Amino acid sequence: MLKNKNVLLGVSGGIAAYKACALTSKLVQQGAEVKVVMTEGATQFVNPLTFQALSRNPVYTNAFDEKNPEKIAHIDLADWADIVILAPATAHLLGRVANGLADDMLTTILLATTAPVYVAPAMNVHMYDHPAVKENLKTLETYDYRFIEPGNGYLACGYVGKGRLEEPENIIDVIATRESKQQTLRGKKVLVTAGPTVEVIDAVRFFTNHSSGKMGYAIATEARDLGADVTLVSGPVQLDPIPGVEMVPVQSAKEMFEAVVSRFEQQDMIIKAAAVADYRPKQQFSNKMKKKDGDLSIELERTEDILKTIGEKKQTQYLVGFAAETDHLLDYGQEKLTRKNLDAVVINDISEENSGFKSDTNAVHVLTKSGKSKAIPLQTKQEIASQLWSVFIEDQKGDPS
Ligand code: PMT
Repeated sequence: MLKNKNVLLGVSGGIAAYKACALTSKLVQQGAEVKVVMTEGATQFVNPLTFQALSRNPVYTNAFDEKNPEKIAHIDLADWADIVILAPATAHLLGRVANGLADDMLTTILLATTAPVYVAPAMNVHMYDHPAVKENLKTLETYDYRFIEPGNGYLACGYVGKGRLEEPENIIDVIATRESKQQTLRGKKVLVTAGPTVEVIDAVRFFTNHSSGKMGYAIATEARDLGADVTLVSGPVQLDPIPGVEMVPVQSAKEMFEAVVSRFEQQDMIIKAAAVADYRPKQQFSNKMKKKDGDLSIELERTEDILKTIGEKKQTQYLVGFAAETDHLLDYGQEKLTRKNLDAVVINDISEENSGFKSDTNAVHVLTKSGKSKAIPLQTKQEIASQLWSVFIEDQKGDPS
């Protein structure tokens, strides 16, 4: 996967900088074109000449060392990189990048590049555990930085624990696996819906349901990791936006309908995991309704059936619906598959413990128009999402398995 790729290796000032030499050599052996950028601290541990000899390219240490007047070096390097690796990434480097600082060659390139950035931290076990470092790692995750966790073991400072730079061959393995996975849906546009809808009664009251959005977010995250260009239309949930995914927040079934139908034609695949209200109050009040003696009836009207609408319109799109059922799972699922003109339906047994709404786990059964039937037993929603994508991709390709 790394053959002929332009890899920019950022080395910061920790004792693990010596392992970055082996990493450079292994990347070159894999056929990658490697350019090394060192922080000033890194040059205290390893002489730039070592990296120059291993990479057979000049090594960059100073943002003001502009050798070619026709180019601006940090922008040129930022654009040149297909992949950026930070190894080792010290606590100081993480802090600078998480706060958007650009005070040397490496951090300036990091702000300017649009290439995927892989971060392999290395530091003392207590430093790695410090809330400031954890917070910086969390921030970088929201920028879609990908982490290669440090290993456990003997640290140069004498401690034993988590903080060792991952071994160079494992760093390459993680990157190659991730980059190869990203080819699966490269160039495909995928729209996912997730979460509940909220149907307003008056200024303070509304109808909604128990959907947390976890299943739909897991499906969108997996689609992103498979390399798709993902749009997530989401009802109100307590989950963080997914880095690298276009987020379209909506409230009501009507808003979700408009968001999905207006984007539907540009999509290759649409996965509707949202729990959309089937009814909304016929009348909605902008003021708070006054409490009165006696009962109150609220007249409900049907919402737009989004799935059915796009099922009728669809031409080449692969369309997946979800079904939340308590009984006759396969019969009701099959009925939805046919009636809504779907390519696949994912049936949740919401009467099962730890399955369906809100939980971190799920158990589902997928039926496809082409006749496949697959039960996926209880596991995390992320694992379910990964298995579901395997089914959809094989099915779309016409694979008989
Ligand atoms: O969000 P979580 O807490 O993780 O829970 C996940 C989930 C249980 C919500 C999810 O896995 C799921 O099953 N989603 C669909 C739930 C549902 O509303 O099922 P349904 O049988 O009412 O609807 C069937 C399909 O039609 C769904 O794809 C739904 O998005 C779609 N629909 C429904 C009504 C409507 N007006 N328009 C629609 O498009």
